[in-house]
Amino acid sequence: MKKFTETNRKRWDELADIHYKGKFYNIEKFKEGGISISDLEINEVGDVKRKKLLHLQCHFGKDTLSWARLGAQVTGIDFSGRAIELAKHLSKETGLGATFIHTDIYELDKTSLQPNSFDIVFTSHGAIYWLPDLKRWGELISFFLKPGGFFYIADSHPTGNIFDDENKRDLIIRYPYFHQEKPLEFEEEGSYADEEAELQNKIEYGWVHDLSYIINSLINAGLRLEFIHEYPFVSWKMFPFLEEKEDGWWYLPERFQKIPLMFTLKARKD
Ligand SMILES: C[S@@+](CC[C@H](N)C(=O)[O-])C[C@H]1O[C@@H](n2cnc3c(N)ncnc32)[C@H](O)[C@@H]1O
Repeated sequence: MKKFTETNRKRWDELADIHYKGKFYNIEKFKEGGISISDLEINEVGDVKRKKLLHLQCHFGKDTLSWARLGAQVTGIDFSGRAIELAKHLSKETGLGATFIHTDIYELDKTSLQPNSFDIVFTSHGAIYWLPDLKRWGELISFFLKPGGFFYIADSHPTGNIFDDENKRDLIIRYPYFHQEKPLEFEEEGSYADEEAELQNKIEYGWVHDLSYIINSLINAGLRLEFIHEYPFVSWKMFPFLEEKEDGWWYLPERFQKIPLMFTLKARKD
């Protein structure tokens, strides 16, 4: 497991700088007062004012700081040291208060964070693919939530994830649907946020998770499911033929039947 985590971490350290400077994340617009969380997520999460929010896998903190701009008291964690450095820098530059912690998600209970201390635990868009074990993930989420607090996730849908992301014309099944311990291994040239990026760290490892595994990992950790929603769009160009609409989401062209490309879920700790 160490080899997989180390390989991924090196790639994310390199991606952090590329993404920070790139068009996809548009840091300049953010500095001018932008919010990078979609209206859909803001509506589904609800009012965050004065709520303590823990953002898992926060990258360089743009979404974390967006929640701060919406009134939350935020903490972001990520295993990329470089991403956390950039997050702290962005927090300083924007004057938005936040705590950023450099840690692997699976070491979260070894940090200074207190159990039962967050109103909201949040994670989104390309997060759980990097995690080998959602059972432990669910337990950690539950451990840090206050009783009455909730977990919210928006991520790519396990159904959409089975299709070949390199085929330029069609949806062809390429990946397993069901969770498996063995990771998928890829040699990736660019990144979702910059297809032309020339990276030194090309190898990545990722894990597929079926929907029942995701949901049961949370239920078995003591959380109560409030809703799960499925959407025919996603937040990035996950297939070469996806089309971006004015609302900023990426859709399949009309010649396809609609399939779920993204899900959102809210689960509460009673
Ligand atoms: C696709 S990004 C999430 C993007 C984020 N939603 C955003 O747009 O800012 C995935 C993040 O997960 C982090 N990550 C991957 N594996 C991790 C782990 N084991 N522990 C903590 N963070 C991890 C990476 O460093 C990266 O920042």
